[in-house]
Amino acid sequence: MREVTASCSPSLALVKYWGKLPGLVNVASTPSLALTLDALRTTTVARFAPAPDRVSIDGVEQPIAPFEPLIAEFRRRAAGADRAVCVESSNSFPTAAGIASSSSGFAALTLALDALFATGLDRAELSAIARIGSGSACRAVYGGFTVWEAGSQAARPLLPATHWSDLRVLIAVVDEGPKAVASRAGMGHSRDTSPVYAAWVREAPAIFDRARAALESRDIDALGTAMRDSYLLMFSTMFTARPPFIYWKPATVAVLNAAEQLRRSGVPAWETMDAGPQVKIVTTADHEATVRDRLAAVAPDVRLLSSAVGGNPVVSVVDDRQGASGG
Ligand code: PMV
Repeated sequence: MREVTASCSPSLALVKYWGKLPGLVNVASTPSLALTLDALRTTTVARFAPAPDRVSIDGVEQPIAPFEPLIAEFRRRAAGADRAVCVESSNSFPTAAGIASSSSGFAALTLALDALFATGLDRAELSAIARIGSGSACRAVYGGFTVWEAGSQAARPLLPATHWSDLRVLIAVVDEGPKAVASRAGMGHSRDTSPVYAAWVREAPAIFDRARAALESRDIDALGTAMRDSYLLMFSTMFTARPPFIYWKPATVAVLNAAEQLRRSGVPAWETMDAGPQVKIVTTADHEATVRDRLAAVAPDVRLLSSAVGGNPVVSVVDDRQGASGG
């Protein structure tokens, strides 16, 4: 019997994906630029098992519907393989709370099924399949810095983690619970009802270009201002949706204010946020302790996770008779 283990890290967007092109499966309306969070991991174990398909996350059995299109894609590609799968996934960080667990989760599932079904697809094909599960997952099949162009079926690697090895991300976990509005529903509602959505789609490519140039030249302040333009315009589409939906909590705002104060005192501390109340602050290793201390002072109940950029996926296969092989 074959057992496969795949491990992926979440993809944190510096320039956001928020909104899909109509009539397609998770194809973005805007380009996104992301890094992979080395310190956070989803680990997924998959094996063939008697029907029906089963998926659990952190020990809790999940409704199978969100996973079936992706599993079906592998059955289709592995001609003749009509077998059911049992998948057990676990996260080293809070699930479905706006820390991009869906990105690492669907990326790890994709890599695990590729190894289990022995489909041997290349990384771009795997990126496109991961996207079926969750848009941001197409970026999480790669480590380092990634790009997902608007209208594209797959993401691609942009730069390795070594390009900016002293970059750090502090994740302020404001609320550990699952978010009230899933990103899939939220981005559809923004697109369908917010008068700001058209401005978001119009502005996003220029923001992306600025962020990409800043990343290439390792200019953290230029990157930070582009990041800020991206996430605030994205949230504007939520605040102006009809009815609006607001993920922010009082501690979220306290952390945002602290980042602003740090910048005024010359410390690079540039925040971004996703579909949830958590704040991710991008800084450099030499300023990490200062940022930590300030956040602990203004928001003592907020848990802080820290990560460098990295997160190359790891896949291993154990066949009962043949032993283990890495990949
Ligand atoms: O991949 P989804 O459907 O969970 O959407 C992710 C959306 C954001 O995290 C808000 C932005 C992004 O680009 O990751």
